[in-house]
Amino acid sequence: MIAPPPPPVIHQIKQITTAAPLVVTLSHRAATFGLTMNAKAAGCNRDHPLKMVVSVDKKQLMTVRLKSSKTRALSADRPLKPGRHKVRISLSGGRRRCARATVDELRLKLTLVPGATPPGPKRFIPLATAFTSSPAERVGASGDLFRTSFDGLTPENAMKMTYVETARGTYHFETPDAIVDYGRALGKSVHGHPLVWHTQLPGWVLRGKWSRGDLEAVMHEWINTMVTHYKGRVSEWDVINEPLSDDGTLRPSIWAQVIGPDYIPLAFKWAHEADPTAKLYLNEYDAELPGKKHDALVALVTKLRKADVPIDGVGIQGHWNLQAPPINEADLRAAVRDFVKAGMLIQFTELDVVTDGSALQQITQADEFAKAARVCQSTTACTRFTVWGLDDNMSWRGVGSAATLFDRSYTPKPAFIAVRAALDAG
Ligand code: XIL
Repeated sequence: MIAPPPPPVIHQIKQITTAAPLVVTLSHRAATFGLTMNAKAAGCNRDHPLKMVVSVDKKQLMTVRLKSSKTRALSADRPLKPGRHKVRISLSGGRRRCARATVDELRLKLTLVPGATPPGPKRFIPLATAFTSSPAERVGASGDLFRTSFDGLTPENAMKMTYVETARGTYHFETPDAIVDYGRALGKSVHGHPLVWHTQLPGWVLRGKWSRGDLEAVMHEWINTMVTHYKGRVSEWDVINEPLSDDGTLRPSIWAQVIGPDYIPLAFKWAHEADPTAKLYLNEYDAELPGKKHDALVALVTKLRKADVPIDGVGIQGHWNLQAPPINEADLRAAVRDFVKAGMLIQFTELDVVTDGSALQQITQADEFAKAARVCQSTTACTRFTVWGLDDNMSWRGVGSAATLFDRSYTPKPAFIAVRAALDAG
């Protein structure tokens, strides 16, 4: 059987200006490098055209002259040797207003070499995002952004028990099914989230008077139904979410209180029985830097592994902010190493960095995101890099905190450039 050619990889750049050249590293084994754009050179005219020079690896590949502020569609493809390439695009205007011109909607398109393991010189780390049930995320600029800039999705809320199992045995799969099928139709990976958590639980679970055996049966039915329903469509799950309190003790969730600490190994066992091929994660926050919670999590996963519990990895949520001291990259790397030593895969599962919205903090934010991306690239155990929200409009931290990789008008922020560069670096 001949494998279908891999889909092209598209770097979408919403806007470039004459202020600074744009430099992008293409890391994929590509057959051709293409450029398509809807360019509009505001302020330019026949006498003062905008010159756009595209060079790959310092060799000039094409020069385009834009003479009007009418939108012009351009497209070109050039062969490319396999390997990493640096693309530089610079604009220079004529005089006056054209000197400060911008080009909108530029897309760099790589056609991958058939049979190449796409993409990456070292290895491919999918960049994924949380995905809500809002139809807005599938159409227009948001939809384009998801399709062109992300490799996977995690349903942000749609798989949570409160929305899916509203009464015992009554399941609502419409919304999560729609998200999963949408992602899969575009060739994106889907990460299931979360099976067992202390919150966003239905009232009938929280208010029930449960014996240990009864609540175990509830948990078993829920896990089995979800994992079976998505078998073949969802290849990895957050089985346990946020099991620890800040001091590293077991969080007194209803599951822990009624079933006891065994709810954790039981959940992994039942998820594994429902889909033996799925990768199973324990997802936690504030355990990625030295401290009690980190130590407790390392001890917990070590114990699970020793007891042959089918756990594959640790998810690092990474809800960060710039009020806290900057992340110490060496500490982050060491913490990740502890999980890896305990036999775990790791992922960044919900990264966002809250800022005050200022341009200055967008730069600092890029540094914080880049630290996580570099640490992920530094170990083969890191399997996915997920940010919590497609763009600043969609972030649960609020539009004003500008916590994601793309701004409110879907323009890549410094953080996106920094994350792409770190994930693509060899
Ligand atoms: C958040 C969602 O982003 C919000 O829309 C919702 O109101 C609350 O939950 N840790 C998790 C995620 O594991 O599921 C949470 O998502 C954020 C914290």
